[in-house]
Amino acid sequence: MAALKDRVALVTGSARGIGRAIAEDLAEWGAGQVILDVNQSDCERTAGEIAARYNVKAIGVGCNITKKDEVQKAVERIESEFGKLNILVNNAGVLRDNLLLRMKEEEWDLVLDVNLKGAFLMSQAMIRFLMKADGGGRIVNISSVSGVVGQAGQANYSSSKAGLIGLTKSVAREYAAKGVLVNAVCPGYVQTDMTGALPPKVQEMLTQMVPLGRPGQVKDISRVVRFLCSDDASFMTGNIIRVDGGMAIGM
Ligand SMILES: NC(=O)c1ccc[n+]([C@@H]2O[C@H](COP(=O)([O-])OP(=O)(O)OC[C@H]3O[C@@H](n4cnc5c(N)ncnc54)[C@H](O)[C@@H]3O)[C@@H](O)[C@H]2O)c1
Repeated sequence: MAALKDRVALVTGSARGIGRAIAEDLAEWGAGQVILDVNQSDCERTAGEIAARYNVKAIGVGCNITKKDEVQKAVERIESEFGKLNILVNNAGVLRDNLLLRMKEEEWDLVLDVNLKGAFLMSQAMIRFLMKADGGGRIVNISSVSGVVGQAGQANYSSSKAGLIGLTKSVAREYAAKGVLVNAVCPGYVQTDMTGALPPKVQEMLTQMVPLGRPGQVKDISRVVRFLCSDDASFMTGNIIRVDGGMAIGM
């Protein structure tokens, strides 16, 4: 399948986890890849594996998305390597769970900086490419059901993910006339390194909260993101789509 041939995609936080699965799915349909994550060598390793497996051009770009100068360097690298960008997936995210009374200011700041400000800086930096993209530019923001329903111990995380929903709707309205479609996906509980670090009791409790009776896998998320990046989703913008096994039905 080559539905995304001649397109270039950048997924933040794509050295591993859900981000990597999204990059792989987009590459499988022919899109060139910018693998962007904090650690340069992790990015290069993932980019090399994806290039070899899917026969696409893939580059690794080490970048902390909370730093405007590093984001600007990423723009310059994309300009020189590809000269364009069609798809931006704001996926990078961190957790620093704590109860409100115990939450340190640094825990609040880090989570808001990576999960929300990072998506703002990346969207702002890449929008010029996306407005010029053949067939329309795409942004997909990876929010969370926690941003929709809230979660005890996640005042910082839920606020950042709810903020991403607002960012999605505002940027969707602002750039619809320029042909850039902006949507958000809200995963429920997905097995990755991020959630693997939670206490086993919490992982068990989260699984019990899923009506479909199992944790999500990275492909459950990446397939929906790929659909949103495809021409089949060309009449969709400003949508907030839960992919959570039913965890937040009716909320
Ligand atoms: N796993 C879940 O259950 C779940 C549920 C809902 C939403 N999400 C969201 O999905 C996204 C991916 O989650 P995951 O489980 O794959 O996490 P993960 O921790 O496995 O991967 C996140 C990636 O983001 C990168 N990253 C972190 N800070 C960064 C920064 N400042 N600049 C660039 N890259 C940075 C990390 O290095 C890592 O590679 C996150 O936004 C997360 O909040 C995950």
